[in-house]
Formats: sequence, structure tokens, C-alpha cells
Amino acid sequence: MPDTKAITMSASQFEKLRKIIYERAGIHFPDAKKYVLESRLGRRLEELEIDDYDQYISFLSMGPYKDDEFQEMFNKITINETSFFRNEPQLEVFEKQALPKIIEARNSTKRLRIWSAACSSGEEAYTLAMIVHRTLGVRIMDWKVEILGTDISEKVLADAQAGRYTDYSMRTTSPLVKQRYFKQDGPYWNVDPTIKSMVNFDLHNLKDKMAAKRYGTWDVIFCRNVMIYFDDAMKAQVVNSFGDQLATDGWLFIGHSETLRGLNTPFSQVNCAQGFCYQKGPAGSGTTTTGTTAASSAVAALSALSKPGAPSTSAFRPSLKLS
Ligand SMILES: C[S@@+](CC[C@H](N)C(=O)[O-])C[C@H]1O[C@@H](n2cnc3c(N)ncnc32)[C@H](O)[C@@H]1O
Repeated sequence: MPDTKAITMSASQFEKLRKIIYERAGIHFPDAKKYVLESRLGRRLEELEIDDYDQYISFLSMGPYKDDEFQEMFNKITINETSFFRNEPQLEVFEKQALPKIIEARNSTKRLRIWSAACSSGEEAYTLAMIVHRTLGVRIMDWKVEILGTDISEKVLADAQAGRYTDYSMRTTSPLVKQRYFKQDGPYWNVDPTIKSMVNFDLHNLKDKMAAKRYGTWDVIFCRNVMIYFDDAMKAQVVNSFGDQLATDGWLFIGHSETLRGLNTPFSQVNCAQGFCYQKGPAGSGTTTTGTTAASSAVAALSALSKPGAPSTSAFRPSLKLS
């Protein structure tokens, strides 16, 4: 590298890069976010000792390391903001409304499956485990609870797997929960081993519709605060895929600032006192439909990028027992 000056990304380089990123992960960088991409990828170019974006685009587009480089790139460009017990009102809907119904409905099989899709560093997945744990109480001994956290970034998944957090992750966590489900170790908070054992993590790109099938059917899917980075076509693809993967009486939770309004999906909004969530079909009272056409209609043109069953180099793949 000649010096440490920021490397400028031209308009055409930005255009090529955002197309590559969108095609691979469905993440849309609007024009106004060019500076974000430039500053985040600039660091990657420095690490690689590459001094212009055309070289980087070639590196990403061809050659034996391109898949590894995509992973490095996602580690850099994704926004991983999260916390334990993020958005309490919505979690109340899960705890007080959805969970009791699902537990009742699964009483004969005593099997509960929850997916935290785009889980970042794991706070959301562990939060759901804590809620299930305190709801089932001693009954948990008789239940098989599977909670899976997935993300496109290996870096955040490694943090999730470690289960070790700083005060920043705990900023929306009550003292009671801290006391019950964490062990403090200097500046860190370690997730209780019982809760840790309820959760697995896996590398998964939400763009990869076929790969999602390997997980089987879920009772509850949380996919919060990631669809804000997707355009409507990608949102429709992801949500329709959730429609295929969710049990008929399953529940979908999206971020409080996200909406399925205007999209063709098989879901209807369930309005609750404290927040909202979604169920499939024209659900019972208090619902507002957001579209009920077949799952595949709006998204036929978008094909999954990864091949199903392709071998993975991820450290996260083998941990999951598939249904
Ligand atoms: C803002 S965090 C949300 C974390 C958590 N769901 C929450 O609401 O607190 C968004 C996460 O989505 C992940 N992400 C972005 N695009 C993705 C994709 N195509 N597939 C899977 N995860 C993705 C990012 O890596 C990031 O960790």
C-alpha cells in the first residue's frame, strides 16, 4: 500500500459492488449509503493491501478465494446492532400470547422449535431461551426445546457461540434476569450453561431459500431488524420462505419498525395490546391481512444462490440436529 489514505470508490465501482452484494445476500445499499460501504470495505482493502476497488471486485468475482472473501466482506459490511430483551413489548406478546398457545398445542409431542433468523451475536436467541425456560419452569425437563440462531456473518456467530457479553449487550436487561441467567466475570456477563445448552448457532444466508429447508419446520420464527436492509423483492422472498417453514399454527415476529404491508405473503398481522406479530392465513379476530397469495408468486424470478447440500466450511454447520 502506498499510504493509508482512504481509497475512493467511484460511482461505477459502487454500482458493481452493490449489485454483487444484493445478488449474494439481498442487502440493498441505497445511493445515500455509499459512504458506509466505502468506509467499511476500505478497511478490508487495507487488510488485503489492495489499493483500488476494481481489483477487489475481480477478487470477489473470480478466483479460488471468492467464497472466503464474501464471508470476510459480510463480517465487515453487516450492521450487527442488538441487545438482550430488545423491544420488551414485542417479547411480551411472544411470552404471554404466542408461547402459551404453542405450548398447549404441542403438549402431546412436547417439542418446541424456535428460529432466531439474523440473530447477530446471539442475544435474541438466548433471550428467547430464557423466556421459554421461565415459562416452562420445571416442565422443561419433559420437553425437547430447540432454538437456533443463524446469521450471515461468521464473526458475530463466534461471539454468539462464546455466550460472553459486555454491559452494552445488557442495556435492556432487568437486574432480575441478569441475576437469574448470567454469571458476572469482571466486565463480562456469561450466559448460564443451561440456557446455552438450549441454543445452537449456524451460518445461514436468508437469500438462500433452498438451504433454509434443511432446518425443517419451526413453531416460531423471529426475524427482526434485518429486513430494513432488504428491498421489497428480497423481503417477499424471505417472508414467503418463512411461510413454507413455519407450522400452520406458527408465529412470525419481525422488527417493530418493519412491515409486510404491500407484500404478497401468506401471513396476516395479529394485533395485540402491546405490539404485533404474524400468523399464516386469515387468522382469528383482531387481524389485518397483508396478502394471501401463494408463497412463490412474487418471487419466482429470484433464485437461491447456494446449492442445497453443498459442503460447508463453516464451523457452525455440524452443530445442528435437523428434524
Ligand atoms: C441489526 S442485526 C439484528 C439482530 C437481532 N435480530 C435483533 O433484532 O436484535 C441484523 C443482522 O442481520 C444479519 N444479516 C444481514 N443480511 C443477512 C442475510 N442475507 N442473511 C442472514 N443474516 C443477515 C447481519 O449480519 C446482522 O447480524
